[in-house]
Parts: sequence; structure tokens; C-alpha cells
Amino acid sequence: MVGLPARGKTYIAQKVCRYLTWLGINTKVFNVGNYRRKLAGAHVPHTFFDPANPEGEKSRKEAAAEALADMMRWFEEDEGIVAIYDATNSTKTRRAWLQESLNKKDIQVLFIESICQDEEVILNNIRDVKLSSPDYADIDPDQAAEDFRARIDHYQEQYETITEEGLTYIKLINVGSQVIINLIKGYLESRIVYYLMNLHIAPRKIYMSRHGESVFNVEGKIGGDSPLSPRGEMYASRLPDLIRQNLGDQNLTIWTSTMKRTIQTASLLPHPTKKQWKALEELDAGVCDGMTYEEIAEKYPEDYANRDEDKFNYRYRGGESYRDVVLRLEPVIMELERHQNILIIGHQAILRCIYAYFMNYSHEDLPYIKIPLHTVIELTPKAYGCDEKRFKVDIEAVDTHRPKPTRAASIRKRASTNLASKAPGHLTLPNPAGASGEIVYDPMSPILPLTSPKLTSRPSL
Ligand code: ATP
Ligand code: F6P
Repeated sequence: MVGLPARGKTYIAQKVCRYLTWLGINTKVFNVGNYRRKLAGAHVPHTFFDPANPEGEKSRKEAAAEALADMMRWFEEDEGIVAIYDATNSTKTRRAWLQESLNKKDIQVLFIESICQDEEVILNNIRDVKLSSPDYADIDPDQAAEDFRARIDHYQEQYETITEEGLTYIKLINVGSQVIINLIKGYLESRIVYYLMNLHIAPRKIYMSRHGESVFNVEGKIGGDSPLSPRGEMYASRLPDLIRQNLGDQNLTIWTSTMKRTIQTASLLPHPTKKQWKALEELDAGVCDGMTYEEIAEKYPEDYANRDEDKFNYRYRGGESYRDVVLRLEPVIMELERHQNILIIGHQAILRCIYAYFMNYSHEDLPYIKIPLHTVIELTPKAYGCDEKRFKVDIEAVDTHRPKPTRAASIRKRASTNLASKAPGHLTLPNPAGASGEIVYDPMSPILPLTSPKLTSRPSL
């Protein structure tokens, strides 16, 4: 990252991390501010950041070096793929040092510079996140804002925007209203650049609801394209009121899948813009489509146990895994980032994947997220995460959530189904056609299921 304080660097770093982690790419943010607080304490005055203050300068260099060393270790020891070095990196000397140190280890560097001249955005950023940072705990907000302003001025004195010709970089100017890119190459860099180009910070909400209870839900069957049950129809007819009463008359765009149950659920909503997405169709259960879980357990006991063993990676014979669904949902996520105020009427597995992206769930937990029927979920993106509200409609529905099997039960099942043992970083997945054999993923390919990615902790502000 590159940029003056309060230019959204940590915000961008966290978003990119969440996006890549969700895709299965082992990503981690190294926030130099955290190292600086550890070394020098949280409460340092703005003079600490004055380039003419040799002690502050020394301490900041030490923090930068420690973060870099940890980052290198992480690449080597934890199979890291993308590390985000979150600091101001606002001088050519600092960037040259980073580029040189990382090149020595054959690590490709992409600089992301955020430039913002919009005073109102900067003021909002200071008010929204900086005053609540540990740097200003228990300090009067006016005094804190003044100190932070002085800190920005110190950085401004020595700030050099990127002009170095040989560097790979993207410059986001005034929250992406202008974007400059240089020497971007390869799949991963292009994905990151495309993702960054879609980000905006206008206030917005994302709404999601499963379709009303379907006939298949009542029968305990998975998949299919069945219509709504009578209770599901009631939910569809109550939805317009629920939306009006709780969300007001805002201009919502409705997205559904191309399946009957979602289209029927959205049919009475008065909103003029409705869009059907093939990509929003429910996880394809392949040969198990239309069966109950009990029937699957009886007919395909090994598959049933394999799914319990590793639900995210398990791919139904002739169908999909949650991992497949995440990849097919990537364009949906891009559109969700670009737009404001979308209501998705979707399916259980699909909404779990979308919810996991916004709420930072690990791949292991994602397939067990509770997205009950007859409930609208409201997500409000905030500086470094999302707030959530749930609106439940008082119409009964079956519970289609199957809890995660306990560890003991899962070990028993594994013993009885003789699962192939997994070496670290080497994953054996059920073959889509059901034949024996394994799919070994290359960690640098666009599809990256190493071991379950470790989630980075939420940022310390
Ligand atoms: P510092 O150097 O002090 O750590 P920072 O540059 O990391 O500051 P953040 O902590 O990320 O700044 O600021 C968060 C705020 O930045 C959020 O409120 C978010 O809305 C806003 N923001 C996000 N993207 C941008 C952008 N491209 N330009 C300006 N502000 C942005
Ligand atoms: O049971 C409803 C349903 O949407 C099925 O169509 C789908 O196969 C299932 O949920 C996905 O949930 P799980 O991954 O927990 O089986």
C-alpha cells in the first residue's frame, strides 16, 4: 500500500484480503501501524512522525523492518501467496527498499497507491475510524483530530507519489474516479486491479433472503426446480410489506436466480428492476438432485461421509462443490461491490457463499452458516467489516440447516469410509465423475484450494 494517512489504505488492504481469502488464495495483511504501536506504544504525539525527529524515524524504520521480516517468514513457513504490506510507504527510498528486499526472494510486488484530495472524504475518514483508533483511546476527539491532521502534514512534507518507471502499480485517485495502472501482468494482479476498480465507498446496504419455503423443502428434498409451498407463497405475499416497513421506500434492485422458487418469491415486489442470474442458481447436487439427505446416505454412503468430512470441497457426482460455487459467484460479488442497495432472493448454499464474503467466514465454516427461510438479512458495510440485522417473518417454515457433525462422529465416519489421508498442501477431492482418483491443485493456478485458508484477524484500527 502507498498513500498519506486516512486515504483508505487499511480499508483497501482488508477488502482485498477478504476477497482473495474467499476465493481460496492464502492472503494476509501486515499492518505496520500495529508493529509501531508494539514498539513505541500507542500514544505517541504527532511529532513522532516528524521527518526531522531522528528517534521517531528510527522507531518507524524498526517497525517497518519487523513487519517485513514477519511477512517474509509467513511466505516461507505458512505457504503465503499474497501478503499485503499496509503502511504509508510514501517515499521513493522506502519503496526501493521494499522492492529490492522482496525481489531478492523472488516475490512479485504490486504497489497500490490511494490518492485523495477530497477534503470531505478525508474528514469523514478521520472522524469514522481514526478517532476510535488505539492511538487516540481516551483522548478528546477535537484534540485527536488536530493531532491526526498534524500527523498527515508531517507525511505530506516528504510524500512522493509513485513515478518510478519500473514499478508495477495501480493508483486509485479520489476513490477510483480515476485509475492509473502500470506494468500489471498475470492473472492475480489483473484480478486485484479489476476488483479495486469496482470498489466505492458510498453508503449502501445489501439485502438477502432465501426464496419462500418450496415444495421440495417440505419434502426434505434437495435441488430441483419446485414451486413454493403454500407457506412459501404466504412469505412471497408478505415480503413487499416487510420490505416497506423495515427498509422504507428505497430504490432496491432485485436479483433472483432463474429458478421458479426465487422468481415466484420476488413476483409481488413492486420494484421495477428485477434481474435473473444463472450464476445465482442453487449448488448443483448432480446425481443427488431431487433426493433427501437420508436417501443420499443410503445410496451413496461414502459420498455422504466425504461431504461431512470436508463440506466446502466435496463435489457432488456430476455436480458442484461449495468451492465451485464461490468461483461461479465471483462476477456476482464484483457487481455487488459496484452497485448500491441490492436485494438478492436466492438459495441456501448461494447465500452462504455471499454472506461469507461480506462477513469474513472461513471456508470450513461457510457451508454451515445459518440462513433460515422466511428471513431477510440486511448487511451494512462499514469501514472494516459489516453490521448485520435480520428481519424474520412470522410464517413457519421447515429448517433445512444440517449442523456440522461433531468431530468424534466425523472421525468414526472417516475410519469406516477409509478416506485417503491428506498431506499438507495436497488436497484429495472426490472426482466429479465419481471415479477414483484425485485432483491436485497448483497453488498458483486461478483455483487455489490449498489447505483451508487461515483467516486474518479483524484489523486493529
Ligand atoms: P493510516 O495511514 O492512518 O493507517 P489509512 O490510509 O489506512 O490510514 P483507513 O484506516 O483505511 O486509512 O481509512 C478508512 C476509511 O477510508 C474508510 O472510512 C473508508 O470509507 C475510506 N476509504 C476507502 N477507500 C478509500 C479511498 N480510495 N480513498 C479515500 N478514502 C477511502
Ligand atoms: O435444502 C435446500 C437447499 O437449497 C438444497 O437445494 C441444496 O442442495 C441445499 O440447500 C444446500 O445446503 P447444504 O449444502 O447444507 O446441503
